[in-house]
Amino acid sequence: MPASVVILGGGIIGLSCAFEAASRGKRVTVVEPGAFGGQASGAAAGMLAPYTENPEQPDPFFHLCLDSLRRYPDWIRRVEEASGKRVELLHTGSLTVAMHEADVLPLQTRLAWQREHGAEAELVAGERLRQLEPLLSKQAAAALYCPGESHVHAPKLVVALAEACRKLGVRLLGGAGTIDLTDPGSAGGVAVTTGAYGVVEGDSLLICAGAWACQYAETLGFPVPVHPIRGQICSFDVPFGGVRHMVFSSQAYWVGKMDGALVCGASEDVAGYDASVTERGIGRLVRWGPRLFPFLEGRQPSLSWAGLRPATRDGWPLIGPVPGRPEIVMAAGHYRNGILLSPATAALAADILEGKASAARSAAFAPDRFAQTAGIASL
Ligand code: GLY
Repeated sequence: MPASVVILGGGIIGLSCAFEAASRGKRVTVVEPGAFGGQASGAAAGMLAPYTENPEQPDPFFHLCLDSLRRYPDWIRRVEEASGKRVELLHTGSLTVAMHEADVLPLQTRLAWQREHGAEAELVAGERLRQLEPLLSKQAAAALYCPGESHVHAPKLVVALAEACRKLGVRLLGGAGTIDLTDPGSAGGVAVTTGAYGVVEGDSLLICAGAWACQYAETLGFPVPVHPIRGQICSFDVPFGGVRHMVFSSQAYWVGKMDGALVCGASEDVAGYDASVTERGIGRLVRWGPRLFPFLEGRQPSLSWAGLRPATRDGWPLIGPVPGRPEIVMAAGHYRNGILLSPATAALAADILEGKASAARSAAFAPDRFAQTAGIASL
């Protein structure tokens, strides 16, 4: 019998881990309390931007992000082949815009180290910037152009992943309601009790519960340091190609999708598990838009929505075995980069389940790394 894995959570991370584990021959069941991709994954703008999202230094988190970006074309090819569905992966590149001269220096600093790590980036201004992004404000001082960054249509990716999983024989138990970790008794392995499907058992458990992962802390006897940070986001009706790149500024970003939605995000606020939008959150994005894109003056978004990002104390995900429970692995806390990190996380989680993960990578993202630091500090 091949080994069986129960995956708790059907967002982008849970479905990606399921696809990878099933591709490697595991028997996989995904239990999802609500709808697949119904939380942060469905709310995401789908930016695959390791250079832009990591302005500071080339640390292990940056390397995980970069590794994941490089996996994306092949990953999408596999998902499309297995599912028979198209996923919108667009290699548009990105522009990080400085509106003031004073903001150009940090971009130059960033450019220097990122070029050493494969970014074929350049600082652009004047006519060159205008050619790249004709609708951008003429007030922009300069921009960091990073041609290697891409974006994906996150809701389409979730649908395709779910279909790919189904075709590989993954049991997808959506609408499972309450999910409790249960003592598997003398049989060993793992068991979860679901509201809708009763007890689901397996050899190992992968917890991919995003901002809800912390709810299992007490049962696991382990402080799971994940908390929700709300991201509010909206979209304007703008024909595809109007805004050509992913455009980032200090206050917001804009990403043009093929269906004519110019997605603009995103707030970062603490609102517990409240995923509603507020006038304040969306209003700030609407007011900021015309500064970069004068054509947005007076325009209102056609849609607005919110998602709960699973944040950790250092902004890095928790990927690794639960202390003292090698049969339970966590893959949660991806904060702003869940879509980008999904292929690398799926590969790492599958390696961990097979006992093949590299020690360095495992240590960097160990779920108990904060407890380890606290221990060292108190010596
Ligand atoms: N990665 C963009 C965001 O979280 O808003």
